[in-house]
Amino acid sequence: MCGIVGYIGEKNCVPILINGLKRLEYRGYDSAGLGVLTNNHSVVIKNKGKVSLLEEKVQKTNLSGKVGIGHTRWATHGVPNEINAHPHYNTSRNLYVIHNGIIENFRTLKKGLEKLGYVFETETDSEVLPHLIDSFLKKGNPLFKAVRLALTEVEGTYGIAVVYEGEPDKIIAARKGSPLVLGLGDNENFIASDVSAILAHTKQVIYIEDGELVEVYKDKFIVKTITDNEIEKEIHEISMTLDEIDKGGFSHFMLKEIMEQPETISNSIRGRILFEKGTSRLGGLTEVVDRLVNSKRIIITACGTSWHAGLVGEYMFEQFCRIPTEVEYASEFRYRNPIINHDDTILFISQSGETADTLAALREAKLKGALVLGICNVVGSSIARETAAGVYTHAGPEIGVASTKAFTSQLVVLALITLLVARRKSMSQVDGRAIAEELMAIPDKINSILRLNDQIEKIASEFHDANNFLYLGRGYNFPVALEGALKLKEISYIHAEGYPAAEMKHGPIALIDENMPVVFIAPKDSTYDKIISNIEEVKARGGRTIAIATENDNGIDSLVDYTIKVPSTIRMLMPILTVIPLQLLAYHIAVKKGLNVDQPRNLAKSVTVE
Ligand code: F6R
Repeated sequence: MCGIVGYIGEKNCVPILINGLKRLEYRGYDSAGLGVLTNNHSVVIKNKGKVSLLEEKVQKTNLSGKVGIGHTRWATHGVPNEINAHPHYNTSRNLYVIHNGIIENFRTLKKGLEKLGYVFETETDSEVLPHLIDSFLKKGNPLFKAVRLALTEVEGTYGIAVVYEGEPDKIIAARKGSPLVLGLGDNENFIASDVSAILAHTKQVIYIEDGELVEVYKDKFIVKTITDNEIEKEIHEISMTLDEIDKGGFSHFMLKEIMEQPETISNSIRGRILFEKGTSRLGGLTEVVDRLVNSKRIIITACGTSWHAGLVGEYMFEQFCRIPTEVEYASEFRYRNPIINHDDTILFISQSGETADTLAALREAKLKGALVLGICNVVGSSIARETAAGVYTHAGPEIGVASTKAFTSQLVVLALITLLVARRKSMSQVDGRAIAEELMAIPDKINSILRLNDQIEKIASEFHDANNFLYLGRGYNFPVALEGALKLKEISYIHAEGYPAAEMKHGPIALIDENMPVVFIAPKDSTYDKIISNIEEVKARGGRTIAIATENDNGIDSLVDYTIKVPSTIRMLMPILTVIPLQLLAYHIAVKKGLNVDQPRNLAKSVTVE
C-alpha cells in the first residue's frame, strides 16, 4: 500500500527520504517519488518501479535540500507510471502533495477546479489535492489554513504531507483513515505512514488521529483538529529495533519470518500463562473480562490470513468456552447492517491494525454498542487504539507481504483467550494446565518442523511447475487448508484452493487427475480415518498427494507420494504446527519459480483502502 515519509531539519533530506522509502517497500507499491525544497526552488523526481531506480535517477541530479517528502504509490486510480506517481503539484509547481487513501469525490472536485481554470495532468484522484489547496492559497490563506479548508471539502480517506515553496519552514500533514505518525528528533522532525520509515532516526513518535492536522517545523509542531482547535498529544516511545526489521542473513524476509516462529511464539506466550491455575493472564483484557465471559455471542471479523486465524478461533471458542461464535469477512460485515446486540463481543484480528475494511467494521460495531476487542500485531495501530481492549500478538514487525509469523501468533493469542474464558466457565484446572503445557511446548515443536526445511525444498522442486493445487483438511485443520492455499497463490501465482476435505466429493473431485497435486492436512485425530478415505479417493483418480501427518504415523507413508511429519499436540493447537510446512512449501515453490517472494505482484502488506 502507499507509503509516506517526510523530513524537515538541518540535514540533507534526500538520503533520509530514499532510505525511508526503502523501509516502506514491504508494504507493496508500483512507483515512487520525492519532492524536495532546495534553497530557492523545489524539485520533484518520480519513477515507475522500484525505489532503487528512483535512487539512481536522484543520484544523477545531485539533489539536496533540508525539507522534503517521499512516497511509494500503489495504484488505485490511474495506471502505475511516472506521471501518476506522487508527489503531485499545482500548476505553478511550487506546492507538492503526497497522498495515501482514496478521494471519493474527486470527480466533483476536479470539475469545480477545471471550471476555475486548473489543468490536470494525471489520471489520479490525488491530483485534486494540490489544486484544491492552491485555490485556497490564492484566496490569501496561509498554507496550514489552505490545507485545512481544502480537506473540509474532501470525502474519502487520506494521509497526506504537503510542502510549499512559499512557506519552506514547514510540512503540513493530515490524516483521515490512513495511518500517519510524527517522529520527533533533535532539531529535526519526521512524518511517516509507518514507523519503520523513520526508526533509524527516532523512537519518539506521536500518532496523528483521524480528523487531525499537524504543522511540522524542524524544532516544533502544532497539532490541530480539522475544525481548527489545537490539541495536546502524547509522545510514545517505540520499542521496536532496526535489527528487527532487517533480513538478518536470510535471503528473504518471508523465510526469516517463518524461521523466527519459535521465538515469536515464545514472545506471544511470555508472562501470559498462569500454569498452576491452568489459565492465562492477559493484561489488556482485565477491564472487560467479565463482559467477555458473559457474552452471548462472539463475532470474529478480519480479512485474509487474519480471517483464517479467526476460523480457528471459532473452533476454540465453541469447543472450550461454549460461546456461539461466528467469523465474518470485515468487508461483508461492514456493509450488511449486521444485527449486533449489547451482549455480543466482536473481536477484530489484524496484523497491521490498519486494514481499511476491518477498521470500518470496528467502527460500525462500536456504533452499535457491542464490546469491541482487538488482536493486533502493530503496537499503536488504528485498530489497537480504537478497540475497547485487546491483546497484542508480539510477533515483531512482519515485512514479507505473505503473513506467516503473525498468523501463528494470532492462533496463540486466540488459545490464550480461550484459556482465560473457558477457565472462568466450565473448564477444569487439570484441563487448563494440559492446554497451558502444550502451548509452552509449541516453540520447540516448531523448531523440529523447521529442521525439515531441506526435505520440503525437495518436495517443492517436484511441484513448482504445477498450475493448480488443492488443499484439504478437516475441523481445526480446514482453516489451515485455506491458509496453505492462500500462501501458495499469493507468492507463487499458482491457482490453489482450500476445502474442507469432505466437500471434495461435492465438486472439486472433478478436478483430480495426474496434474492436480493435493495437499492433505492429516494429523492423527478423530477425523483421521475420514481423511485417509479422501486420500484413497484422490489416489484412485491419479492425483499426486502430499500429506502433513503426525510424527508417529507410519501407515500414511505408503498411501501418499510425499509426507511431511510434524510433532503431535492437542487438536486446538495443531494448526500452529501444520501450517509451518505449508508456509515453507509455498516459499520454496515461489523461489524456484524465480518470483519476488517478499513483494508479490499486485499485493500490499497493509491494505488501507477498500
Ligand atoms: C496474506 C495476507 C493478507 C492479510 C490481510 C489482512 O498473507 O497477508 O491476506 O492477512 O490483508 O491484513 P491484516 O492482518 O493486517 O489486517
